[in-house]
Amino acid sequence: MNRTLDISGFGRISFRKGTLDDLETVIDIDESLFPDGQSYDAETFFFYLIDHQTDVIIVELKNEIVGFLVFRPFSNTAGCVVSIDVVEKFQGKGIGSALLEVAESLSRKMSHATMILQTPVNNSHTIHFYEKRGYKKMRRIHGYYQDGTGAWEMEKIILS
Ligand SMILES: CC(C)(COP(=O)(O)OP(=O)(O)OC[C@H]1O[C@@H](n2cnc3c(N)ncnc32)[C@H](O)[C@@H]1OP(=O)(O)O)[C@@H](O)C(=O)NCCC(=O)NCCS
Repeated sequence: MNRTLDISGFGRISFRKGTLDDLETVIDIDESLFPDGQSYDAETFFFYLIDHQTDVIIVELKNEIVGFLVFRPFSNTAGCVVSIDVVEKFQGKGIGSALLEVAESLSRKMSHATMILQTPVNNSHTIHFYEKRGYKKMRRIHGYYQDGTGAWEMEKIILS
């Protein structure tokens, strides 16, 4: 996970594993990006940050958290991207793609054959983002989010 990447016009971003000290920032970022009923609550993020099976991958730019990804095993053969968040003003610069690559690499190291994720059916920008990076819609889950919004379950084969 110790990896850095140059973001043109902004500088070098770095990745690290999240800790409980990141809880408040992670909650604030998630609430800024998702409507009520689609963002995760504080208890859920608390759990992810202390759970040994979960990796919260934090991206920083000049000591400021600009995004994160929550990754955990889905099964013995699949990983799961639980959430991916990039602060709005830093979107469109490759940070989301880099986060996905870090998660896929972690998943491969666990010998997972596929990566699975769920994304809101009405979030066409994000669906396009995943499709362009090799994810395919597998099934539609009605009422997946607390506010009733459905989700596409998407999957990518990550082992060649
Ligand atoms: C989805 C998300 C994580 C992508 O992160 P990102 O850092 O913007 O990703 P990238 O920069 O690697 O790629 C974004 C794509 O949008 C394009 N883009 C251009 N300008 C953009 C802008 N101002 N904002 C967002 N995307 C832009 C990029 O060129 C790229 O296009 P491509 O897919 O054709 O290559 C981010 O948009 C986000 O946090 N969205 C809100 C939360 C969300 O919906 N998360 C997913 C829930 S499952």
